[in-house]
Amino acid sequence: MTVLDLPPGALVVVIGAAGSGKSTLAARHFSSAKVLASDDYRAAVSGDAADQSVTGDAFDRLHADLERRMAAGELTVIDATNVQGWARRRLLAAAARHGRPAVALVLALPLEISLARNAARAERRVPPSAVRRQDRFLRASLPRLGEEGYDAVVVLNTPDQVERLEVRRIPGKTNVPKERHPTL
Ligand code: CTP
Ligand code: MG
Repeated sequence: MTVLDLPPGALVVVIGAAGSGKSTLAARHFSSAKVLASDDYRAAVSGDAADQSVTGDAFDRLHADLERRMAAGELTVIDATNVQGWARRRLLAAAARHGRPAVALVLALPLEISLARNAARAERRVPPSAVRRQDRFLRASLPRLGEEGYDAVVVLNTPDQVERLEVRRIPGKTNVPKERHPTL
């Protein structure tokens, strides 16, 4: 079993390709008020959760809400692919500005699983080429995540590991020993 200990006010950066199960995982472990999902912001800006043309505005709004939540010390989960370093850095900076702990929760499932789940869903299907590209960015990021400044990095490599993730709220600062990371 993998355990993710979350202190109050933490930032949880969920990382994974489209179809890897980020929104499903977030919904399982967190109330919706704590989850800032890029698709919801796209829908708010353009009326269409799949409208990539509004990405800039959508993320500006997401970051404005993140800033407020970090200032207020509210636990916040970012449900976006977050497979690129620059996207993660902007999130981490918000946590750092307010002295909040940040954790990375990585869905590093085999590409085939993300492709199959993306292909099987009725709406918001993204081109397979986009899933492949995101997966490449994710794999390239994995060796570097430990140096990006998270208090903990949890990498889930299989659906079974995802199933068995336990998220615990703890008082005080985060403390996930490195030995508990499945791959780091
Ligand atoms: N899914 C599944 N079993 C899981 C997790 C997800 O069958 N254990 C399915 C979901 O029902 C959904 C699809 O796989 O139809 C993608 O899951 P989702 O959580 O939406 O993936 P995201 O990573 O959030 O995808 P996106 O980046 O496109 O929002
Ligand atoms: Mg999603």
